[in-house]
Amino acid sequence: MTQLNMDAFWMPFTANRNFKQSPRMLVSADGMYYTDDAGRQILDGTAGLWCVNAGHNRKPIVEAVQKQIATLDYAPPFQLGHPKAFEAAERLAAMAPKGLNKVFFVNSGSEAADTALKMAVAYHRVRGDAARVKLVGRERGYHGVNFGGISVGGIAGNRKLFPVSLPAVDHLRSTHDLKRNAFTRGEPEFGAEFADELESRIITLHDPSTIAAVIVEPMAGSTGVLIPPKGYLKRLREICDKYGILLIFDEVITGFGRLGADWAANKFDVQPDIITCAKGLSNGVVPMGALLVKPEIHDVFMAAAGDRMIEFPHGYTYSAHPLACAASIATLDVYEQDGLFERAGALSGLFEEKAHQLKGAKHVKDIRNLGLVAGIELESRPGAPAQRGFDVFLKCWEQGVLVRVTGDILAVSPPLIITEAEIDRLFSTIGDALQATE
Ligand SMILES: Cc1ncc(COP(=O)(O)O)c(C=O)c1O
Repeated sequence: MTQLNMDAFWMPFTANRNFKQSPRMLVSADGMYYTDDAGRQILDGTAGLWCVNAGHNRKPIVEAVQKQIATLDYAPPFQLGHPKAFEAAERLAAMAPKGLNKVFFVNSGSEAADTALKMAVAYHRVRGDAARVKLVGRERGYHGVNFGGISVGGIAGNRKLFPVSLPAVDHLRSTHDLKRNAFTRGEPEFGAEFADELESRIITLHDPSTIAAVIVEPMAGSTGVLIPPKGYLKRLREICDKYGILLIFDEVITGFGRLGADWAANKFDVQPDIITCAKGLSNGVVPMGALLVKPEIHDVFMAAAGDRMIEFPHGYTYSAHPLACAASIATLDVYEQDGLFERAGALSGLFEEKAHQLKGAKHVKDIRNLGLVAGIELESRPGAPAQRGFDVFLKCWEQGVLVRVTGDILAVSPPLIITEAEIDRLFSTIGDALQATE
């Protein structure tokens, strides 16, 4: 490759100076593999960034986007529409968990989170309950990087440079409980009672009549794969119901088959009031996010606004972008035609087995898994957190396998088309990398 000038691009969530000294450059992708600029094949153990669930370069998706760009490249989404937006919404509503059939499009997971928080506050207001303005998130939660998302989010490193929060926010404690749950396969036995804190502390402290919504990831992904304890989400639902608080599930990672089911809401049999999703919604091909909303919420907005008035003054220039809609429709077709959510479910036993074979490997202090996601938590190097994790990531990369690392936790979340042999390679490469890392 000719020498690139890398000065101008300030890379997101990247150690820029380190990267630019020894770049890891991806130049093409197909199926389960990236190709780097040296022509090496890299097994994609992370579905890009938890988004390429159907694998790379899927022909029906590529062709749908190509056709769309040559037909209608852009259409303003305010006071105008285009057919693909309605088709995409209908398609998504048809596969949504029961009772969540109103779709509001955005362009990312971060936008979805902030939109959901605004929608929750506005919902109470338009139905005459304007005191409900407070929002409850959870420690170690990730809801993207916008001000709403980091306010309810609980990843300390993502907040410390921006100590400006929405004013009316509190946090549940994280469900992570290594002492009781280390090396659990699937859902941990212990910790449903962490949900009770919503009632015993937060609601008591704030008064329930001031709380608009609780937002959680059903499975916390970006913080390092924290699986919800058995019964925890049901308990949250019950408490929210008791006090008229909306429950928002951030399914940006868990939607579209990741847990071996279509949605976490269905997997755990808990119906939230709003789901936010993105990533797998368009297979990562064109940026897109969405909210799935109960009609009762939607209808309150419709009833409250006067004739010809805008019911929800919110949206983005690129909401329901024609290319995103075309990509999403084709993506949902591929998921269905290839039975990919079922495939993820069927492979999850082997995936779990291979992940847990790393128990006892050097540095490993916990392994967690569900569906096609696994987190491998390492002992940190004394005085140097995150360094060991990054070294393992680099060693895997050198061996042609892409994993994700957050702090000293490795996260594995391959496209749902992965084969059994590739699952084997993924975890054996991680095992070798651990062995070779100090
Ligand atoms: C649960 C969750 N919410 C929101 C986001 C933010 O999505 P985006 O990066 O598309 O803004 C992410 C991204 O990883 C996520 O995992």
